[in-house]
Amino acid sequence: MDGNLQIFSGSGSDQLAGGVCDALGIPLGQAQVSQFPNLETRIQIEENVRGLDVYIVQSMCAPVNDHLMQLLIMVDALRRASADRITAVIPYFGYARQEKKTAGREPISAKLVANLIQAAGADRIITMDLHAPAIEGFFDIPVDHLRAASILVETLKEFDIGPDVIVGSADAGGVARAEDLGRRLGAEDIFVSFKKRHSPEDVTPLQLVGDVRGRTAVVVDDIISTGSSLIAAAKSLMENGAAEVYACAVHADLTAGAVQNLQTSILKSVLVTDTIPVSQSANGNSKIRVCTTAPLFAEAIRRIHNHESVSALFN
Ligand code: R5P
Repeated sequence: MDGNLQIFSGSGSDQLAGGVCDALGIPLGQAQVSQFPNLETRIQIEENVRGLDVYIVQSMCAPVNDHLMQLLIMVDALRRASADRITAVIPYFGYARQEKKTAGREPISAKLVANLIQAAGADRIITMDLHAPAIEGFFDIPVDHLRAASILVETLKEFDIGPDVIVGSADAGGVARAEDLGRRLGAEDIFVSFKKRHSPEDVTPLQLVGDVRGRTAVVVDDIISTGSSLIAAAKSLMENGAAEVYACAVHADLTAGAVQNLQTSILKSVLVTDTIPVSQSANGNSKIRVCTTAPLFAEAIRRIHNHESVSALFN
């Protein structure tokens, strides 16, 4: 890489940013990310960035508001330090489940977050598996929306899932994602598990569409939070005759009880990525397998920096 590329990280993505830098063969940019005594976010960029092509890797995972503020303040600091171009690399885009109004007097928080990132001075965005792809259009700057499917499929192929696999979605909204993953895996048909959420932790299966009898099923979702959706889908699949059920999700936005819920569930294995740091306990968990996205983000950064097409990375 030439010397004009610099990568920084907030505390939401320091490990992933390290992996990205390793893949690119450059050191991570030095920045202090801390808090003032009154808990305001404090950022100090410790390198000269004048005229550089700068990337900030920062997921909007919990504590999401702190991580969002770190990102905004880092962009501001870099802009005022005369960076030539600032790209916000947001492996997990938070607030994405608030992308439309479902009742009167509700906000569209995902649009507000997009406005804030642009107003801070970001020139472009790289992100992965937005909960709603339309969020890309909330920005008036270029957005490279990467998908984790190829990474998850490579790891799934390491399991002995056999040729008679069927792939499906944990809800109606994720059908396109499941279809894509199924196509990559060579699965010929698809199922959809419809669900009803009574509360954040309480999800019951409503109906299963698709013939899963005797088949290995792979249920796909974009986010795992409590694990309820995937576990409800797995129960429904087993009740409808599936031989075994694997789960895949991109973003492991795990709540406190999620690891235990997944570990004691009938799921055979759960694949997630590192767009959100997965705690040591979950990482060492026999059912949860974490696949790294670092090489894909690194390749996207390399191509953008070198003014090369990134289209091939979307396949
Ligand atoms: C919701 O629409 C998302 O796509 C996921 O299905 C949801 O966030 C999963 O949450 P949980 O693991 O709590 O069921």
